Amino acid sequence: MVVQTINTVLQLRATTAALRSAGKRIALVPTMGALHAGHLALVKEAKKHCDAVIVSIFVNPTQFGPNEDLDAYPRTLDADREKLAPLGVDIIWAPAASEVYPAGFATELHISGPSQGYCGAARAGHFDGVALVVTKLFNQTGADVACFGEKDFQQLAVIQQVVRDLDIDIEIIGVSIVRDADGLALSSRNIYLSETERAAALALPRALNAAREAILAGVSIDEALATGKAALLAATFSNVDYFELADAETLQPARTLTGTPMRLLAAAKIGKTRLLDNLAI
Ligand code: PAF
Repeated sequence: MVVQTINTVLQLRATTAALRSAGKRIALVPTMGALHAGHLALVKEAKKHCDAVIVSIFVNPTQFGPNEDLDAYPRTLDADREKLAPLGVDIIWAPAASEVYPAGFATELHISGPSQGYCGAARAGHFDGVALVVTKLFNQTGADVACFGEKDFQQLAVIQQVVRDLDIDIEIIGVSIVRDADGLALSSRNIYLSETERAAALALPRALNAAREAILAGVSIDEALATGKAALLAATFSNVDYFELADAETLQPARTLTGTPMRLLAAAKIGKTRLLDNLAI
């Protein structure tokens, strides 16, 4: 089945209005395309919660910094459509940048709180751009539910904060990380890895697992984190942006286990590729 692809807000509104008047609850899966099994898991989760699923495919310029990979970011719309067809997706929402940010667009969003530190420190303005586009996607689609991957854990915390702060009437669902059989978290950026880098990248999930076990076995958190960082550098990662234990909601760094949900969060660069991963404690 070919999935209907919509490119204008006008047509999207007409189509979602028809779904809603037929009594259907709508789920949104926001993506930037280059779909992999992690995205498909989001679609499958979305289908459990709603009657109709919209997948947005939009490489959002406002979340890329001036020296980031906006132009090089993979754009694979035809392949993405083929991957979505068997899943029973109702609409692919694939607007042009000029539809989302028409000439004269003048609104910015700024989020602090969970956007500070971690990827927010390395990518100035990134989460403001994510908050802006996701708010627009919520308004454009009027979705009841939206699914986001836990792989971008800080992004998920930022979106939950925006939804609370702006009283957006939508349920946000975080979906577990999908990993290759050897443990590497799936990411659209994994295609940039050479064979050698792909093999070395496994050190990232391994270091997180080792840190988790050490912390649970009573090793001091500072020591477990330092060991994790050192393991990544030894495995040819060129730098470690962060390797941290944080409160899972506020993302404030934590140095004791308090019984509330915690998350180990890491970002590190191998060759030219920055990889992210995280693990619940
Ligand atoms: O996670 C992503 O792919 C993007 O940041 C998102 C949420 C689709 C916003 O552009």
